Amino acid sequence: MEQATMERLLLTTLLLPLLSVDSATSNLEGQSLLFPRESATDYVLLTPQQQKPLHNFTLCMKAFSDLPRGYSLFSYATRSHSNALLLHVNRPGEFSLSIGDSEIVFRTTQSWLGAFHVCVSWESSTGIATLWVDGRPQGRKGVSKGYVLEGEASIILGQDQDSFGGGFNAKQSLVGEVWDVHLWDRIIPMKRTGPSLQNGNLLDWHSLTFQSFGDVVIKPKLWL
Ligand SMILES: *[C@@H]1O[C@H](CO)[C@@H](O)[C@H](O)[C@H]1NC(C)=O
Repeated sequence: MEQATMERLLLTTLLLPLLSVDSATSNLEGQSLLFPRESATDYVLLTPQQQKPLHNFTLCMKAFSDLPRGYSLFSYATRSHSNALLLHVNRPGEFSLSIGDSEIVFRTTQSWLGAFHVCVSWESSTGIATLWVDGRPQGRKGVSKGYVLEGEASIILGQDQDSFGGGFNAKQSLVGEVWDVHLWDRIIPMKRTGPSLQNGNLLDWHSLTFQSFGDVVIKPKLWL
């Protein structure tokens, strides 16, 4: 083993609990993150491109799962609110959105069992959240008017955080896959034909800084 490799290995082993030396930035275009089994240990930690208070946001992602139970799609925790922003599937066709630990539920008319494209936007000044699935609006509801997502963010795919960076429950884990995850700090206008194909300025699938833990597999995506 080369000295440099040896040193890096030593450094990694010694400092891993202290530093995020393993997080890397990749272009995941055309790739999907697979969570192949139910667990409380498999997840991906995302690092946003900027840390800033969030007054408004738009989150878009694509996912596949045929779980009959509920699961977390996107879990954004702060030190004060473990569900600062949580997008959750309660059962096929029913989405719940939590902002600042308050929850609203969107019941759609389809089961969305299989692959789907979901976008949700929210603005603090009115508290209005809008959900779109496969390019179709699913309604607008009010939640946590005036709240601001503030402080360090822990953003996790594959698990639901019940505490900052942890508190996972296997029965809320995602078994399936996610891809094309984008997060913006503003409301992105949507057309009936679907969201415009821009890159998120806080999370960008084409330049994503992340660390994976446990059994997470990257594979070419199966669906558009
Ligand atoms: C959030 O959006 C509202 C309008 O929807 C806008 O007035 C406000 O300036 C935005 N806040 C930030 C911090 O971008």
